[in-house]
Amino acid sequence: MDRIDFRSDTVTWPTPAMRQAMTDAPLGDDVYGEDPSINALEAEAAERLGKEAGLFVASGTMGNLAAILAHTGRGHEALVAADGHVMQWEAGAIATLGGVVPRALGTDADGKMDLGQLERSVCVDDPHLPRTRLVLLENTFGSRDGVPIEPDYFDGVRSFADRHQLSVHLDGARLFNAAAALGVPVTTLTRSVDSVSFCLSKGLCAPVGSVLCGDGAFIHEARRQRKALGGGMRQAGLLAAAGRVALAEMTERLTEDHRRARLLADGLAGIDGIVIKPERVRTNIVMFGLAAGAPLGRDALIERVAEESGILFGPEGDGFRAVTHYWLTDEHVDRLVAGIAACLR
Ligand SMILES: Cc1ncc(COP(=O)(O)O)c(C=O)c1O
Repeated sequence: MDRIDFRSDTVTWPTPAMRQAMTDAPLGDDVYGEDPSINALEAEAAERLGKEAGLFVASGTMGNLAAILAHTGRGHEALVAADGHVMQWEAGAIATLGGVVPRALGTDADGKMDLGQLERSVCVDDPHLPRTRLVLLENTFGSRDGVPIEPDYFDGVRSFADRHQLSVHLDGARLFNAAAALGVPVTTLTRSVDSVSFCLSKGLCAPVGSVLCGDGAFIHEARRQRKALGGGMRQAGLLAAAGRVALAEMTERLTEDHRRARLLADGLAGIDGIVIKPERVRTNIVMFGLAAGAPLGRDALIERVAEESGILFGPEGDGFRAVTHYWLTDEHVDRLVAGIAACLR
């Protein structure tokens, strides 16, 4: 990469091995089901997640939306975290394109909707009400410090969903970060959900794409929905080839990003003017704020650090977010800490 960029793990460039795999990839027309690289990626992803089938999609947003469309119909209702990605950052597509009513529920400090509240939120069969059909979950939970959520929670949601014949979809954009942080096989986080999507293009460094996984009938329907969304790609094996490297080579090393995020958090905790809870940092996302009376405001600090140290990090609410990834080193972390400290002196 050509700059020191902590704004997100989405900024990651593909690795040299990915660029090589893209050059060498066997290709075909994926809408005909004939792209060997995509077929291999879909099968490998499904196997890793313990599901029957996979579907390569252009983005995490498309994976979530194709899943919502495959699980529901117009006028159905989905129970969803008010501060989750689907509610906050996907252009309202659940409602505008899906015709699905999102019932936005509050979450606890880790991004979990309360099981009792879920139970109370299911609509009874009454012509005044939408039909509740789907629960949407997220792991890691981005807006809560990227906290990894334990398998037990998903098992609890499964029992609840079964009592009401609801489907459960997991937005696992950073699913492998969650598994790495918890030290559990990824299948323990997916065993209780009907469908799950994960991103190849975040901490796993592929340039494009996510994979949606579920049982064969679900993926058959999601493939139709992907086509309707304009997501039927042709020789996209070029991209899937990078995704295969991401899946094979990049998941095990995520603990390194997590260690580095904690290093950053500990460094920031030592700066006068910064407010942070380092113990909240469990994966690759570091959220922090400005103490009252700090000499610079949020945007001014971001700009000054970029100007003086050449290092990028981003705003998050009233505070900041820095995300570690493959292209960042311990030295970059030290330089960011020093750069922020210098600007607040
Ligand atoms: C938790 C979560 N879900 C979904 C997405 C959407 O992914 P994409 O940007 O590929 O559409 C993101 C992107 O940052 C995310 O953080």
